[in-house]
Amino acid sequence: MGIVGAGQLGRMLALAGYSLGVRCLFLDRSAQSPGAQVASTLIGDLEDAALLAELAARSDVVTFDWENISGSVLQPLESVTKVRPPRAALEVSQDRLAEKKLFTKLKIPVAAHAAVDNFKELVSAARKIGLPGVLKTRRLGYDGKGQFVLREISHIEEAWQAIGGTGLIYEKFQAFSREVSLVSVRSAAGHVVFYPLSANTHSEGILRYSVAPFTNVSLERTAQRYLKLIMNELKYIGVLTVEFFVVDGKLVANEMAPRVHNSGHWTIEGCITSQFENHLRAICDLPLGSTRPLGHAAMINFLGKMPDRERLLAIEGLAFHDYGKEPRPGRKLGHCTILKARPRERNQVLADALKLIKWA
Ligand SMILES: Nc1ncnc2c1ncn2[C@@H]1O[C@H](COP(=O)(O)OP(=O)(O)OP(=O)(O)O)[C@@H](O)[C@H]1O
Ligand SMILES: [Mg+2]
Repeated sequence: MGIVGAGQLGRMLALAGYSLGVRCLFLDRSAQSPGAQVASTLIGDLEDAALLAELAARSDVVTFDWENISGSVLQPLESVTKVRPPRAALEVSQDRLAEKKLFTKLKIPVAAHAAVDNFKELVSAARKIGLPGVLKTRRLGYDGKGQFVLREISHIEEAWQAIGGTGLIYEKFQAFSREVSLVSVRSAAGHVVFYPLSANTHSEGILRYSVAPFTNVSLERTAQRYLKLIMNELKYIGVLTVEFFVVDGKLVANEMAPRVHNSGHWTIEGCITSQFENHLRAICDLPLGSTRPLGHAAMINFLGKMPDRERLLAIEGLAFHDYGKEPRPGRKLGHCTILKARPRERNQVLADALKLIKWA
């Protein structure tokens, strides 16, 4: 199996592949990347046509750790091997405007928004949609990068200074009570399974920790319906994640990720079959595994600096994941997962673990 990009998501896919007997080959810029440490890797640019062709020739199926590969570079691979999830899903998820168009077409609620390609359009978008709002780049944003929260009209020039240019979107700021995400899996035959909802806490645009299962039957049912609509529309194969805001008790879709997702890392220890294994099962035409949770989980990201491993490992029911990356401010270096029988115990241990983790 070929994986474009060998970050931590790719690494965890490859590790899941070991027990299934699915061998992975990466394409990545760096021989020190998290994935390259655990499986063979072609070294070079992710959009290098010759390397992508080699990856495809050597793989029964090609998938992604990074979804921002341009569609035109991917298209030639489709005559050589299976590309899963489909290119159309990647292309939609690469552009926040295209994503919102798809959601709207499927009657999935999204924040009021407008495309912005120059300063004048920003002024009129802020006037029409109102404040506060978030100005974002339509492409290539992650971990809150390429975003500016506009709270007062007097800061509009500052917003433009910060990220101004073409290819932006201005969206209404959502006064959410929570953020949740749903991770789902669809097989080539159209069989769909869902993981339990996860409740996610972000700070400065970066996911800090997730708690799951987040029990809310009606939200979960609605989220499942939305994901099914998206997956069927795109003839999706593999794991798909959608992030939502909960506003006035209702779901507003934020964005989708055509891949395994940070808010699903807890499924490694927390469910019968992890999101990584189920992604491989789906794209390799194997039966999907059970998404049943094994307890109440919390996942905490290690950002910028690794925590004290010994002290964390002393916590019962805690699993530790080091991605093998060089520390850098704000960088995701690893995570830990806590699994407990009851929510109350889980919450207690989550609070204890959070005291040992400093985000840098
Ligand atoms: N319209 C909004 N209203 C309120 N908060 C927002 C809005 N858009 C983004 N945020 C906050 O910023 C976070 C990151 O935004 P978003 O998911 O759009 O960006 P991202 O950089 O693609 O993040 P990632 O890929 O890491 O999930 C959100 O999870 C949310 O906490
Ligand atoms: Mg996001």
